[in-house]
Amino acid sequence: MSADYVVNGSVAVITLNNPPVNGLGLATRTAAVEGLRRAQADAAVTAIVIVGAGKAFSGGADIKEFNSPKALAEPSLHTLIRVVEESHKPTIAAIHSVCMGGGLELALGCNYRVALRGAQIALPEVKLGLLPGAGGTQRLPRLVGLEMAINMIVSGTPVLSENLAKTALFDDVFDEGAQSSADLLACALTFAGKVAAIRPLPKVRERKVDYPNHEAFLQFTRNTVKAMSGPFPAPLECVDTVAASVTRTFDDGLKFERERFFHLIQTPESKSLRHAFFAERLASKVPDVPADTPTRAIRQAAIIGAGTMGGGIAMNFVNAGIPVVLLETQQEALDKGIATIRKNYENTMKKGKLTQEKFDQRIGLIRGTLSYDDIAQADIVVEAVFEDMNVKETVFRQLDAVMKPGAILASNTSTLDVDQIAGFTSRPQDVVGTHFFSPANVMKLLEIVRGKATSKDVLATTLALSKKLKKTGVVSGVCDGFIGNRMIEQYSRQAGFLLEEGCLPEQVDAAVEKFGFAMGPFRMGDLAGNDIGWYIRKRRYLERPEIVYSKTADLLCEMGRFGQKTGAGWYDYKPGDRKAYANPAVNQMIVEHSANIGVERRTVSDQEIVERLVYSLVNEGARILDEGIAMRASDIDMVYLTGYGFPLFRGGPMFYADTVGLFNVLMAMEKYAKGRHGDAWAPAPLLVRLAAEGKGFNS
Ligand code: NAI
Repeated sequence: MSADYVVNGSVAVITLNNPPVNGLGLATRTAAVEGLRRAQADAAVTAIVIVGAGKAFSGGADIKEFNSPKALAEPSLHTLIRVVEESHKPTIAAIHSVCMGGGLELALGCNYRVALRGAQIALPEVKLGLLPGAGGTQRLPRLVGLEMAINMIVSGTPVLSENLAKTALFDDVFDEGAQSSADLLACALTFAGKVAAIRPLPKVRERKVDYPNHEAFLQFTRNTVKAMSGPFPAPLECVDTVAASVTRTFDDGLKFERERFFHLIQTPESKSLRHAFFAERLASKVPDVPADTPTRAIRQAAIIGAGTMGGGIAMNFVNAGIPVVLLETQQEALDKGIATIRKNYENTMKKGKLTQEKFDQRIGLIRGTLSYDDIAQADIVVEAVFEDMNVKETVFRQLDAVMKPGAILASNTSTLDVDQIAGFTSRPQDVVGTHFFSPANVMKLLEIVRGKATSKDVLATTLALSKKLKKTGVVSGVCDGFIGNRMIEQYSRQAGFLLEEGCLPEQVDAAVEKFGFAMGPFRMGDLAGNDIGWYIRKRRYLERPEIVYSKTADLLCEMGRFGQKTGAGWYDYKPGDRKAYANPAVNQMIVEHSANIGVERRTVSDQEIVERLVYSLVNEGARILDEGIAMRASDIDMVYLTGYGFPLFRGGPMFYADTVGLFNVLMAMEKYAKGRHGDAWAPAPLLVRLAAEGKGFNS
């Protein structure tokens, strides 16, 4: 049973008991309905209290049962709420800590609700592209009013119980002395004694939502929400459904809610959000590294190199309260690095997002040094020096000589072989790749590169650290570019070929941004610095001459146009303005280059641009999956959603390919294989196999 039943005096107490947050799975619902029936049948019972065991009242649906037939099996959440609502004896929800989604909808079905201060109250379904489907949209406005209900349901953001104490949602919010769930139960029992005899029982469904001139308000709200919700349909559907609480009868409103819920659950946007929700949870699980693998304590960190990445990485540690020592070879570089960090925090303070006290605290956690002796006691050291194997070798040999035993030696390399780097030390088991993304203090992604010798506890520690730093950690095996950059290379190659065949940067960027990417490839190149790719290509021309690239990006760099940092890249930039302005000389260079290589320029459709860029990611992603570099397709999606601005409403490249159908993806690739550089479209064997079997990457 996952709900317990006891009778305390004359009050029946049903305790939801399904750790960790009392998700309303089938067993919990069944046990709760059973408890309610027993209470009805027992003449000695005069009132019924529903509470949650442990850490929560209820977090809502049981995510373990998502997408399983159990989620809708009877007794469904609707049935449970109906049984509560039809009770002849007063029902009281006693709420602490967390009361969300279906948990709140259950509480809304009760005659009374009491809560401890500090309980988080929310209907967060919108975050999964849905709306509350068990009466929440109709009952909540009847208790907190139309405006508050729309705010809560459209944003999905939790509100503290004490901030709702004045609404009809709560009959009492206990603060004086009541702190634990045991105190809550005692208060709830007293409350139950007071209301046990009151008849008729108050029913939420019988209340009215009064809002003068509601039509004007609802129209205004629709306009605002529509403008804010981009491609996602759920927020506007939430408004329309809550509106039904004013414009329709309760039963009609419920029917409407159900209909809109089932509509939303089928939308690609909701499917993508749910995919991303589960993908994020899965990413932190490594099959051969069990959840109880011991981790190493990280109390102090060191960063080698105070450049673009080193500074941002240091900020991550400091933001998490971990002191950092930054090491450079020259005082000047060190001063510059620390000044940049200071400036970043000052800007945050100017925006009102950081107090002076927090600023002082954070700056106080950063220390600079030129000596390796000062970092020897750090629990983790992250190397972020130049992307050059010789420099990495010097650094790692030194780290091996000075760092205390058990320290984690991490490299932020974006392309180099982590196994080779580990080989510069006598402790390869302690070496791991931590590939942060630029700007490192902002981007959510942390690619964790598992070398062949990386020990399980180092991996477990790095995964735990990623959570502490508020990053999405995704594990990658060792290969050139790991998951993200290896795939982006194919994407960038296609972008270059498109320029040769007839596109200009603004057309490519516009097409991809219309598809939903945060930034097209050329604006992204300008942001990251075109010289970085140039440097990598120069290495590849020597190491792997068989790979063909468009020369346009090299020609651009030869013009000294490295991107935003030089005020000029594929586009022009004005000081203090991140907007990209087309540059006639660059466009002329592109057109002339086509003529020089004998390519007749043609009109390329936006569809071709998007397909070539996105399917090149998918094809390389399939290889990465097949080779075991990524553990699962959803990990690749997480990399692209959190590190490369892939549109969330499309769920990531692999999920998107599943949505299109792998057979269709393959057909398009066959078409492009007949064009220029057709060998770039050799299909990944896994893609061919799955398409033939009618399967997807994620199914
Ligand atoms: P950067 O050139 O801005 O900074 C490198 C810093 O390392 C410089 O301040 C330099 O003085 C210092 N340095 C060089 N040799 C050193 C040594 N032996 N000991 C101590 N300090 C030394 O480079 P950036 O962009 O920060 O890149 C650093 C690493 O991060 C590279 O491996 C790069 O591939 C990687 N990376 C870069 C990203 C980017 O977007 N810039 C993104 C992800 C990874």
